[in-house]
Amino acid sequence: MKSLHDHVRKSVLTFEEWEYAIDFLTRTGHKCTDIRQEFILLSDVLGVSMLVDAVNFCERAAATETTVLGPFYVGEHKVTPHGTDISASLEGERMFVQSRVTDLNGKPLAGVPVDVWHADDDGFYDSQKPNYDEVGASARARFITDSDGRFFFRTILPCSYPIPTDGPVGEMIVQTGRHPMRPAHVHFLVNAPGHEPLITHVFIDGDKYIDSDVVFGVKDELIAKVEKRSDATMPDGKKAEAPWHLMTYEFRVKPGGGLAPKPLGTKVAEPAGFGNVRPVVPAQTALPFVAEGCR
Ligand SMILES: [Fe+2]
Repeated sequence: MKSLHDHVRKSVLTFEEWEYAIDFLTRTGHKCTDIRQEFILLSDVLGVSMLVDAVNFCERAAATETTVLGPFYVGEHKVTPHGTDISASLEGERMFVQSRVTDLNGKPLAGVPVDVWHADDDGFYDSQKPNYDEVGASARARFITDSDGRFFFRTILPCSYPIPTDGPVGEMIVQTGRHPMRPAHVHFLVNAPGHEPLITHVFIDGDKYIDSDVVFGVKDELIAKVEKRSDATMPDGKKAEAPWHLMTYEFRVKPGGGLAPKPLGTKVAEPAGFGNVRPVVPAQTALPFVAEGCR
């Protein structure tokens, strides 16, 4: 309350501004449904969600950095054999992902469930599609690490995508001259027994939005160099059609406990642009934001 009062004093808030703020928050509430959470989106684009993450996971030592879960985690994924193409039904440039889970000393951790999920070549998650319940998962699976802590799979190269802009949060983004884009990434949830669950993304190096993620999720350590390859086989020895992409990333988890997260219950069924025209993306604006959560 003190911070709020200080803000009113400092900005000499007018009645008109106060009314606008009340109306904005009211509209934000009205936009929320069982499958859409506009307030979490507001928190995301204000950098508050990442700041909550930063103050709660500030002592990482050698552990992999964290990011927010996001609205497209739908709960435990189906266990899938290594090497599976999890995007077999999707168009797009093919990508092979090879990864390993270790503890902070680099010791491989076997039998660890790792959930992965990412957007398709048009920037949409499977759970955003109206026929998701009938068609089922794509670009989404669970792998269990082998005795050497490894897992690998095939998929497509994800692309950058916009957050929903058909609500008050989108209006704020446009009016403040920001773009609504998230740089291309793959989500990972690593849940090793005896260790803290790791919720993170791996971002594709070179994405044009890598320095201005609308929800402030990028951390340098989470950017992976994805190599463009022309080899006739992928690392598991199976035939490949060139060109393809290779993502290599290792996860280090921290000893501890904690429950794996539950889905936020915010499956967004009607994002801006889905089935319509994608939003016009304004010129990229660099955002002077650093999540300085640790003291
Ligand atoms: Fe995402």
